[in-house]
Amino acid sequence: MRILILGASGRVGRLVVQGALARGHSVTALVRNEASLASIAAADGALTIVKGQPQDQANVEKAFAAVAEDAPAAVVVTLNSARTSDNPFAKPISPPTLMHDAHVNVLAAMKTHGTRKIVTLQAHGVGDSFPTLFLPVKLLVRYSNMGIGYKDHEQVEQVVKQSGLSYVLARPVRFIEGPSAHVHFYGNKGEGLGSLKTATRASVATFLLDAVEKDEWDGTTPVISN
Ligand SMILES: NC(=O)c1ccc[n+]([C@@H]2O[C@H](COP(=O)([O-])OP(=O)(O)OC[C@H]3O[C@@H](n4cnc5c(N)ncnc54)[C@H](OP(=O)(O)O)[C@@H]3O)[C@@H](O)[C@H]2O)c1
Repeated sequence: MRILILGASGRVGRLVVQGALARGHSVTALVRNEASLASIAAADGALTIVKGQPQDQANVEKAFAAVAEDAPAAVVVTLNSARTSDNPFAKPISPPTLMHDAHVNVLAAMKTHGTRKIVTLQAHGVGDSFPTLFLPVKLLVRYSNMGIGYKDHEQVEQVVKQSGLSYVLARPVRFIEGPSAHVHFYGNKGEGLGSLKTATRASVATFLLDAVEKDEWDGTTPVISN
């Protein structure tokens, strides 16, 4: 199937693009900088790169229509509310409603193009999984610039759930580097999750693609870790 990926130039996004191609899917990637995907090897026609900005409805529409005879069957979003570094107090550099605005555009285009499903990368601690966060992380979400991304994720959750479209909103725990490994599930809210769990970006990318291909997690917000 054709999968449209927003955030394809990011650390998880690139792994999703590579994984989707390896599974035999076609990929359309909407990126600000086309060169960011230049090193990804793809069979002829398997990877379509569209230059544009996810907050711009016309750019999103261009990505959906990029391969006229093959509209995306699913969308994966791996955008980040970026800061100058991963330090929770680092200065924000993405617009505070980047992910919400991108989803408003994507959900509208999905309805126009008959795209069935959206799988979005969110985070443990978003929405009703906040109570199961480790206390120090709760404080960071409340009082550092990390909170801007969490607020944006929560607005995404609202518009996705209101859309009536099929969705999976993944809530992984803290990322670490490493290969793809077995993924554990802790319900929608993180029930039974310990305080020190981590997940590799590769495992998260694998899960996002599993969630595209299977119906098992549709309509859920799974908290996941390795
Ligand atoms: N870090 C963790 O421990 C952790 C844990 C759980 C969940 N998460 C979630 O995982 C996601 C981050 O994944 P990641 O590490 O792969 O992020 P990343 O490497 O920072 O990638 C971010 C992506 O967002 C795009 N982006 C950022 N600002 C943009 C803007 N203004 N306009 C257009 N595109 C923009 C980037 O595009 P450019 O390449 O053009 O900048 C890039 O494709 C976040 O949603 C976060 O909440 C993180």
